[in-house]
This record gives sequence, C-alpha cells and structure tokens, in this order.
Amino acid sequence: MSATAVPATRFKHANLKVLLGNDLPPSPPATEDLSSNSTDSAYISDGEPVTIPLPPPSNIATAVLDLDKATPDSHVPRDHRLIRLTGVHPFNVEPPLNDLFENGFLTPPELFFVRNHGPVPQICEQDVANWDFSIEGLVERPMMVSLKQLISEFEQITIPATLVCAGNRRKEQNQVRKSNGFSWGPSGLSTALFTGVLMSQVLQRARPTRRAKFVCMEGCDKLPNGSYGTSIRLSLAMDPAKGVMLAHMMNGEQLTLDHGLPLRVVVPGQIGGRSVKWLRRLILTDTPSENWYHIFDNRVLPTSVSPEEASNNHSWWKDERYVIKDLNVNSAIARPAHNEKVSAKETDTYVAKGYAYAGGGRRVSRVEVSLDKGRTWRLADIDYPEDLYRDADDYIIYNSRLDMGWRDTCFCWCFWSIDIPIVDLKNASDIVVRAMDEAMNLQPKDMYWSVLGMMNNPWFRVVIHAEG
Ligand code: MTE
Repeated sequence: MSATAVPATRFKHANLKVLLGNDLPPSPPATEDLSSNSTDSAYISDGEPVTIPLPPPSNIATAVLDLDKATPDSHVPRDHRLIRLTGVHPFNVEPPLNDLFENGFLTPPELFFVRNHGPVPQICEQDVANWDFSIEGLVERPMMVSLKQLISEFEQITIPATLVCAGNRRKEQNQVRKSNGFSWGPSGLSTALFTGVLMSQVLQRARPTRRAKFVCMEGCDKLPNGSYGTSIRLSLAMDPAKGVMLAHMMNGEQLTLDHGLPLRVVVPGQIGGRSVKWLRRLILTDTPSENWYHIFDNRVLPTSVSPEEASNNHSWWKDERYVIKDLNVNSAIARPAHNEKVSAKETDTYVAKGYAYAGGGRRVSRVEVSLDKGRTWRLADIDYPEDLYRDADDYIIYNSRLDMGWRDTCFCWCFWSIDIPIVDLKNASDIVVRAMDEAMNLQPKDMYWSVLGMMNNPWFRVVIHAEG
C-alpha cells in the first residue's frame, strides 16, 4: 500500500505568513488546518497507521511577570512555574522535574528550560520581518540571507530535538565542591519539534573553501564580553544525518523571545551551548571560535584545576582538548522524587520512571536500576517516542530524505520505567539508575568534578522512605 501523508498542520507553513506577512511565495507542502487535537495520524511506509503526538497549543503567559518588570527583560512574557537559578536576572531557569516529565516527550515552549547569558534582545515584529544573517569568512560567495529567503527558497524540515544544557545536574557537583556555575537540577533539558532549514543547505550556497574547518556562530545579544558566539566543526554541520539546522519555529509556532526569536541554530546531540540563539552571523574559519563564551564557557577542565588556578592561568581555557562537543550519556529518576515516602501498601508493585539521553546521535541502548547501591542491577523498559516521528511518512518530519539512506541518528531523550515489587522496595533506602548508549558508553559510578561543573553524569540516586 502506498504511503499517504495525513497532515499534521500546525506545522503548515501558512504559519510563516503570520510570521513574515503575505508576500511570501508558497512554501513546500501545505495541508489543511489542524484541529485542536493533540494527536494526528500519519502512515508509515508499509501502510500501517501510526499516531504522531503533537504538542498541545502553546499556553504561554501573555503578560510580563511582575518579577521581570524592573529588569532588562521587561519585554519578555514568561511562565511563573519556571525555577529561577540565578535570581531574577539573567533568566536561567528549569521547569520542576515533575512538570517537565508529566508533559511527556515534547516540552511546551513556556516550560522549556532557558539559559540566557544576559538580557534578551529587544526584537519587534518589524525586526522579525527584516531579519537577516551573514555567511562570511572562508567562503567563495559571502552573502546575507534574509529570514524570508530562508523560508521561501530552502526546503523546510522539522526535527524533534532535545536540547540539554552542559550544566544539567550541576547541583550535585556543587554539593561536593562548589564549581564556578549555578546549580542546575536534573531539568536542564527540554524537547521540541524544531522547524527550519538544514545548515548544510544554507552553507552550500555560499560555497565553503577547502580551508574551512569550523562554523562560528554569533547571536545579537549584548553581553559584557560581546555577543554570544561559539563554533562547531564544519563536517558536523555538513552531515545531514546529524540534523544541524537553522530553526525559526518550535512546536509549530514562531520561536519565543527566550528561545531565540526569530532564528536560532539547533545542534542535535551536542550540548545546548552550541545552539546559538538570535542568530546574526555564520563565519567559516580554519580555527575554532575565539568568542569569549566559546573559550571561557562549556569546557571540562581537568579535575585537578581549582577555580583559583583556572582564573589565574588562561592557558587552561585555550586548550581545545577540553571543549565539550557531544552530550555524554545521562539519566535521571523522576518517580519517586528524592526523599519521597513510598507507600508500601498501595499496590504490589511500584513503577519507577525517568529519562535518559545520549549524545552525538547515539541511541540509549540500556537503562539499569539498582536497589542495593550498585551491587545488582535490573533492566528497565525503554520507550523512544522519537521513533514515532522518525517513522512517520509525513512531510513535516525529516526522516528518510537523506541521499545516502535512512536517518538512524537519535536526537531526543527517551523514557525508562521499571516495575519494582513492593517487597524489594521495602528493603531499599535508595534507588540508583544508570544508562548506556549504543557505543557502550556507560554512566560512571563516580563524579568527574571540574571547575565549571559541566557534563555531570554519574549514577543518579534518590533516597526513598518505604512506609506501611
Ligand atoms: N545563544 C545566545 N545568543 N545567547 C545565549 O546566552 N545560551 C546558550 C545557547 N545559545 C545562549 C545561546 C546555552 S549555554 C544554552 S544551554 C542554550 O542556548 C539554551 O537554549 P534555550 O535557552 O532555548 O533553552
């Protein structure tokens, strides 16, 4: 049976007209309107119908919170549930783990974690309509590309991707020894369907020269040390299986101010710090970015380097070996919560649950749970909602379009769960989880402390109190 795409049309690119006015030429394929249902059906290529869960319509607060009114972010509407980790400003927030987890695979933009190094740029509707960015450096044809061109002249794709801050779970490091970073809990990550254009397609138009090895990316935020910028390898950007893209929509709607309106980079499988927001410049170079934030942020220095040593000796920061690229394998427990009183009476089994992710497009291949501090382990079940999106033969999802074949890279978190007999739980004082990816990278037992407290991924542990 031939495949028929049934539309998931909050992604209908008619939305782009709202974004940029009516002068856009028709974008690739448009379909009829989506009802307010949060699911839609599509067909995989063997004709079996599958359901693609779509995000519920965004519920973002329309008003600016009182808290933000006296800050440089007084133009940014936000959700009060987000937990502020660096005081009121700058805005660095994670959702409560329970809210994040209960929302399921896709995180609504208003609950999506935010990492802003400074004020959110003032961007009005007209700025959006006139937005452009440069492609410069080691290219044969330096150029400006407008957002309108990006939308009308390039193929639009949608990719589910989990962004993870390199500081996710840093709180645990700070409890052992204070690092130079603020205390993220385990919710410094979120997932969305990002719509935009593969970066490789845009770069090809500018024709990178043979000397080009890196893509430096720069936003337009005004920070104490210039605009935020960083770089990735050109080979990564040019590999369509890795999904590096320039995104202008998130969960089928225009990006929000906090998440880079109107244009951001999304680098699936690498730390969130590479996904530059409010994008203004792509610069091809033969050396990595020299932007202050590329050098002094998002690195794992050797564990022997103290905060004092790191601030006195800048050569530590300039050593490319310490740059973080791919995410490492990680997991957390969402149920039970830390210190939860678990009622031993309620049923004869208790369902423990959580999330896991891996980096570099690798898949989480196993999740294990221990009730005896790692002496013995039991296998958890893993659910990979991303597969539904990958398998859907629907134009909105970037799947089998690769010239060289099927995209088998994984860009998203997955969920694990395990039924634990209550009798076993009664004898336990804590639950520990660890994940392994398909390259058999395993979460370590011990923490690797470093001065920025990044990439913290030892076994995740919650204390429990069995009652009854
Ligand atoms: N881009 C700009 N222009 N300014 C920033 O402060 N923060 C980076 C990245 N891109 C940042 C940025 C970091 S460290 C992370 S983890 C991600 O954005 C967070 O993306 P989010 O705020 O949309 O969740």
